[in-house]
Amino acid sequence: MFTKLKNFFERPKPYESNDTYLKIWTDEYISKNMLEIHLNPQIDAASRNLDFINKSANWMISKFDLTKEKKVLDLGCGPGLYSTKIAEAGANVTGVDVSKRSLDYANKKAQEKCLKINYINESYLEWKTAEKFDFAYLIYLDYHALTKEQRKCLLSNIKGYLKSNGLFLFDIPTIHNFKKIEEMTNCIFHEKGGFLSPNPYFEFELLYKYEEEELTFKRHVIIEEEHENIIEMWHKYFTYKEIEDELRNAGFAIVEKYSTVKGDVFGENTDEITLVVQNQPGGGDL
Ligand SMILES: C[S@@+](CC[C@H](N)C(=O)[O-])C[C@H]1O[C@@H](n2cnc3c(N)ncnc32)[C@H](O)[C@@H]1O
Repeated sequence: MFTKLKNFFERPKPYESNDTYLKIWTDEYISKNMLEIHLNPQIDAASRNLDFINKSANWMISKFDLTKEKKVLDLGCGPGLYSTKIAEAGANVTGVDVSKRSLDYANKKAQEKCLKINYINESYLEWKTAEKFDFAYLIYLDYHALTKEQRKCLLSNIKGYLKSNGLFLFDIPTIHNFKKIEEMTNCIFHEKGGFLSPNPYFEFELLYKYEEEELTFKRHVIIEEEHENIIEMWHKYFTYKEIEDELRNAGFAIVEKYSTVKGDVFGENTDEITLVVQNQPGGGDL
């Protein structure tokens, strides 16, 4: 018991491992609850609220002309809330996601609406294709859940996915957001089961901050009568200069910046930034 609690409170070195962060999307039981949250039109969790998504997709369609002939890649597409709208505008859409449950829903919706969307159940850290896209996007702060190595790998993959003048859009949380976060530990007894397990379980959760690295670490330990599960997540927060350097080193230049994924004007002190970046031919030290 003492050792288990000691392990729970242990503060790992930054990015010591990132082996369990996908469980919330891929676990048979948790992914069912995640899909419900994606599809709740009111809340910002898993996906943003439906009103935001409608405005965001409409802005992207008109701003980047995501209509006929355009080949569009939705990375981490989830249940296809963006893919569906962009395919309805006439674009040729491919969506990639690790969650089979979300893609089953997305495929069902596409069939109902007679839309031809190519959904691929793979990790964008591993997926390779010879196809080339005009426009790729990764929406709802997914970039910041990756380690430095994983971000490098993703940017290198995106270089391969895009046509030479192709664009990549993504959103990240800023350092202003980081400053508002506080460390915490908590223990809850879910007597009738809950979000993370259908069985009764104790949930130990903690959040640590790494000031120098502008990084947070979340750990959930789920203890059932006969089973234990650990889910750990790293979240990176960026200054503008940091992300600019990271992109430059990967061979991308920022061509546009906004404070939201629906095109709101960029400001210095916003909680999030949306960037549109372009491949620099020959650029990158990967
Ligand atoms: C926060 S949700 C956003 C979903 C969607 N972009 C939206 O805004 O509605 C993140 C999505 O990325 C997927 N995901 C996370 N890591 C992934 C990876 N390495 N490869 C592919 N999909 C991933 C998850 O399964 C989940 O559907």
